[in-house]
Amino acid sequence: MVNKITTATVIGLNAYRVFVEVDVLNSLPKMSIVGLPDTAINEARDRVRSAIKNSGFTFPSKKVVVNLAPADLKKEGSNFDLPIAMGILCEEEAVNSELLKDYAFLGELSLDGTLRGVNGVLPLVLGLKEAGVKNVVVPSVNSSEAALVEGINVYGAEHLCDVVNHFVETPLKQVHIDVSSYLKEKSQEEYLYDFKDVKGQQKAKRALEIAAAGGHNLLMIGSPGSGKTLMAKCFASILPPLELQEALELTKIYSICGLLSGDEPLMTKRPFRAVHHTASSNGIIGGGSNPKPGEITLAHRGVLFLDEMVEFPRNVLEVLRQPLEDGEIVISRAKNSIKYPAQFMLLGAMNPCPCGYLGDKEKQCTCSDYQINRYLSRLSGPLLDRIDLQIEVSRLTPQELMNANQEEESSASIRERVVKARKIQAERYKNDGILTNSELTSKLVKKYCQIDKPSSELMKVAVVKYQLSGRRYDRILKIARTIADLDGSKDILQNHLMQALQYRMFNKDEF
Ligand SMILES: Nc1ncnc2c1ncn2[C@@H]1O[C@H](COP(=O)(O)OP(=O)(O)OP(=O)(O)O)[C@@H](O)[C@H]1O
Ligand SMILES: [Mg+2]
Repeated sequence: MVNKITTATVIGLNAYRVFVEVDVLNSLPKMSIVGLPDTAINEARDRVRSAIKNSGFTFPSKKVVVNLAPADLKKEGSNFDLPIAMGILCEEEAVNSELLKDYAFLGELSLDGTLRGVNGVLPLVLGLKEAGVKNVVVPSVNSSEAALVEGINVYGAEHLCDVVNHFVETPLKQVHIDVSSYLKEKSQEEYLYDFKDVKGQQKAKRALEIAAAGGHNLLMIGSPGSGKTLMAKCFASILPPLELQEALELTKIYSICGLLSGDEPLMTKRPFRAVHHTASSNGIIGGGSNPKPGEITLAHRGVLFLDEMVEFPRNVLEVLRQPLEDGEIVISRAKNSIKYPAQFMLLGAMNPCPCGYLGDKEKQCTCSDYQINRYLSRLSGPLLDRIDLQIEVSRLTPQELMNANQEEESSASIRERVVKARKIQAERYKNDGILTNSELTSKLVKKYCQIDKPSSELMKVAVVKYQLSGRRYDRILKIARTIADLDGSKDILQNHLMQALQYRMFNKDEF
């Protein structure tokens, strides 16, 4: 008789149900796996044989054929060990196959039969639930992650014998987790870096607050030691907390990449991905022959921080242009194409010239015009055009530096204003399918960023004086909208617009 065991495989960010069919034939002892398995699944043959023997069961000394259906779907991952073993044990009548009908199995086996954790458990269990499966058995280390999915019973097991016993005498304990209260509790934890430890720099702090409130991209330009990297690290602490839906979406991504830890099954904070400038474009965008998400997808709903931005090779920076615009990336390979989400905020930091002191009040810059131009040409116009807020960060004055008594505002209180502004935006755009001002299309800018007559006059002057492009014009209105939201103002007033105009395009001649 052929036994059919349910499991799943991940493709992109989604999982699909897979049936593991096991048959034992009267032929020379051999085991074969068919149905587009990857190398890890093919190697399951040896692991499963040893695990079954070492758990005290008998492995058939006949030919074992394992078919992974549907046959045209490529399967990958080590979660097939347990379902294959269960199929064989049904053949050997160690378990009654009738009892396994409503169950799915995920898990890697070690040679002694212990169950090892696998990647992608959250999407796998979600996929199984959508396929109508009622119960799932997973390795204990993955059980809290699996329990994030509501509407499916989750059992965690340590050993192959425990799984068999579940159907024979001692049932496994069901795992529960209250997702919303877990998320609430965890998101209140303290951050490592806080704005209360950053002296002065009011202008930069304000720009970071606007960026966090409206989801805008930001670039900091300034001399060495001015605190750019420090403030960027503090930025994560003023971002609004994750909504449950966002947290689950992020957890799926991190689960597939194997970046979740067993005791923290849910992503509770917005990601802050600091990428080094030696990173390859594949590492940033994602890809490879077995496509995996890159840094921009790991930064989804959070921040991608490029420190020393001009040090990145130009081709690496250029690949960011499309995902910055679309909020997603499509990776096309010969056989299939996969879409990953990439709605991230870009945060950049750089010096204004190779020596770093262009525009510094105390130190003289030693670079030639040619050197400066060459240095800055690594940032292309189109990329700069996508960065809404560009600010100059100057070094602290000796007075500011030595003034230890001054109390700086904490991240928690800045975050309160950010959260309020985000709520206003979410309410306003609830029918437009966007969340923040930075996502406004030019059509929506016309609808939501109207300005009165005196403000239009002001914009007219600015357009002529700063030679603003069409895209730049829209961006200034978007920033003004965010400043008005932070102010709790329904309309964009003239002073909001004036503030927005301060963050105009970076221009080396102004240093
Ligand atoms: N405003 C500030 N308040 C408190 N400490 C500061 C401030 N600015 C700089 N520092 C101190 O100086 C150190 C260096 O700052 P940081 O690394 O942020 O400079 P940077 O602007 O990134 O310089 P570089 O251009 O060389 O990368 C910080 O770790 C911090 O200790
Ligand atoms: Mg730095």
